[in-house]
Amino acid sequence: MPAIVIVGTQWGDEGKGKVTDYYAKDADYIVRFQGGSNAGHTIVVGGKTHKFHLLPSGIIHAKKKNIIGNGLVIDPETLLKEIKTLESDGYTVNNLFISERVNIVMPYHKILDGLEESSKGDMKVGTTKRGIGPAYSDKIARSGIRAIDLLDRETLEKKLDYLIQLKQKMINIFDEKTTISKETILNDYVQYGDQIRKYVVDTSLMINDALDKGKTILFEGAQGTHLDVDHGTYPFTTSSNTIAGGACTGAGVGPTKIDKVIGIIKAYTTRVGAGPMLTELFDDTGKHIQDKGVEFGTTTGRPRRCGWLDLVLVRYACRLNGLTEAAITKIDVLDGLKEVKVCKAYEYDGKIVKNFPTSSKVLEKCRPIYSTLRGWKEITTEEREKIVKKGYRALPKEMRDYIEYVSKDIGVPVTLISVGPGRENTIERKARPL
Ligand code: IMP
Repeated sequence: MPAIVIVGTQWGDEGKGKVTDYYAKDADYIVRFQGGSNAGHTIVVGGKTHKFHLLPSGIIHAKKKNIIGNGLVIDPETLLKEIKTLESDGYTVNNLFISERVNIVMPYHKILDGLEESSKGDMKVGTTKRGIGPAYSDKIARSGIRAIDLLDRETLEKKLDYLIQLKQKMINIFDEKTTISKETILNDYVQYGDQIRKYVVDTSLMINDALDKGKTILFEGAQGTHLDVDHGTYPFTTSSNTIAGGACTGAGVGPTKIDKVIGIIKAYTTRVGAGPMLTELFDDTGKHIQDKGVEFGTTTGRPRRCGWLDLVLVRYACRLNGLTEAAITKIDVLDGLKEVKVCKAYEYDGKIVKNFPTSSKVLEKCRPIYSTLRGWKEITTEEREKIVKKGYRALPKEMRDYIEYVSKDIGVPVTLISVGPGRENTIERKARPL
């Protein structure tokens, strides 16, 4: 299968990093296509945890080419730090390629992200304050700075002559004291340009050439479907297209080139930041899931809101992404619970709602309708190892019932189950007709 897109079906943090790393063993290229350092992808290899914000999750496979596509907004300072950390861990980063067209997060984007958020009152999104929204706004307004601009001082200076004046005025709307200096920014960003120069290429050309040669490409989504700027719970979303279609624009490939779309479903729901979440739990079970699932943001350290699996959300994600298959992650977090619930529909004004509503006013008044399934026992580390060796049929029956309930409801085969954070805690299951 040459071109596979991996996307999150919820609000991000579904375990895409782990699944991408797992599939990366069979891929030649791993491509990020949207987002920026707001993302946090965790990979555990041989007991060592790696956390990436910008680097694609295949970066630790030395022989795989890792691409940062044009659809991201990258903060070069963060990127260079990630590369340094990896190098100090003994890796050589000569398998990274950055799109010439990728937009750059500038210092004024980060300042404005913070200032705009503080001024929004209860309309606050709860952003990661990594400058993502302001950087994407500039891209769309055609005022963005791209990687290629960092490689040429003259071009960068010309753009900054205009931009710094404008951004200074925008900053002063919220805060009269903060100032930005063109000279400092110019010097810093020319230096960053020099450091990333060796990675910057026409990545769309590279990806399409690879596809023509029959290479396998994994397109790695960041955040999740419900954070998509068009289709998510707007305005409580991020600023990019997180859905599978975003892989085409964000990497520069045609839709006819995509063969498979794998949706990652965490076995329960989490959300960071503000916005509606109908299955959120405020009781001991919610706290249990948060602690056991270590549900704290990789980027900001904020506790994630936790709740039961919401299939209304996941069905919507299946439709938007055209999922061909699904992976269920972190199902082990639910081990030991007497019963597990899944939300199959909402109730609004006495009526059953099966499709995710657009209006936030309607959503606020919806109530989840649950199906209750039997839980399964706690599984020890030794038992888990044996189960993984034996495969899907060795999982507790109640866990398989849960997986099959989800698969049937969403109409998509579940082909991979993750029962722990490590690469080795993964069970593949052949796709079967539903
Ligand atoms: P921004 O992307 O920093 O502008 O934040 C917008 C919203 O998206 C906030 O609610 C963030 O918490 C959320 N968000 C951004 N990136 C991630 C992610 O990687 N995982 C989960 N939530 C995210």
